[in-house]
Amino acid sequence: MNTRIIAMVNHKGGVGKTTTTLHLGKALSMLGKNVLIIDSDPQANLSQSLKIEDPKKEIYHALCEKEKLPVQNIATNFDIVPASLALSGAELKLIGDINGYFRLKESLQNLPTHYDYVLIDCPPSLGILTVNALIAATEIMLIVQSQYLAIKGLQTIMELIDELRKNLNQHLKIGGLLLTQVNRTIVSKNIVEAVQAQHEEKVFKTVIRQNVSLVEASTMGQDIFTYAPDSMAAEDYGNLAKEVVG
Ligand SMILES: Nc1ncnc2c1ncn2[C@@H]1O[C@H](COP(=O)(O)OP(=O)(O)OP(=O)(O)O)[C@@H](O)[C@H]1O
Ligand SMILES: [Mg+2]
Repeated sequence: MNTRIIAMVNHKGGVGKTTTTLHLGKALSMLGKNVLIIDSDPQANLSQSLKIEDPKKEIYHALCEKEKLPVQNIATNFDIVPASLALSGAELKLIGDINGYFRLKESLQNLPTHYDYVLIDCPPSLGILTVNALIAATEIMLIVQSQYLAIKGLQTIMELIDELRKNLNQHLKIGGLLLTQVNRTIVSKNIVEAVQAQHEEKVFKTVIRQNVSLVEASTMGQDIFTYAPDSMAAEDYGNLAKEVVG
């Protein structure tokens, strides 16, 4: 079966890209899928949230020094390619390289293991690291925080993605828009309704509710299924995984 490679994207920060990469990945692995998550953000929050600090080998070496992707196992069926702050040096190097946009795609083609899912955590920008992810990916998951101004930014990013898709990766699909940090306020409710009305079938039925357990879990260096298996967040990400598998 073909690998589904999903890029977690939004140029806005703090919307839940990293949280979703970790927990959708873990939930898919718990459904018996073989999953690789890739930290492609110089902030390295995905690695840090698993207590992987200063890894010896990280994505930088694959992107900039053409080494093979350094894969680490973290749980059953669940692997990671970590990052560190060193990745911030990658942008300049890659821009100066004629194949700089295609490095991640090349690296993924040379993986020795078959994965059912590869999830790529992108930085909050549409720079060369995100473009690498969009070229390597088969689909995009657009992470949308249910807060004021989220919709305005959404139209812009949809147009930019369309532009990139035409020029660089015509097979790239919008896998879906995921609403995150949904709460009971009227603003949040209005935004969920507006996004669902505007983008209809593209919006995941599962929404991720605001849940402080996610913040606590990441401080503890644990995923939500380990830290609080009965929490709303564990339920939401479990449902999202089922919806993604289809
Ligand atoms: N559903 C949620 N409920 C409550 N807090 C959340 C939820 N999702 C994420 N958070 C918290 O919000 C913060 C930002 O989340 P996260 O790091 O996943 O966003 P991001 O889009 O990856 O940010 P960046 O763009 O900086 O990489 C984190 O502290 C995280 O624990
Ligand atoms: Mg992040």
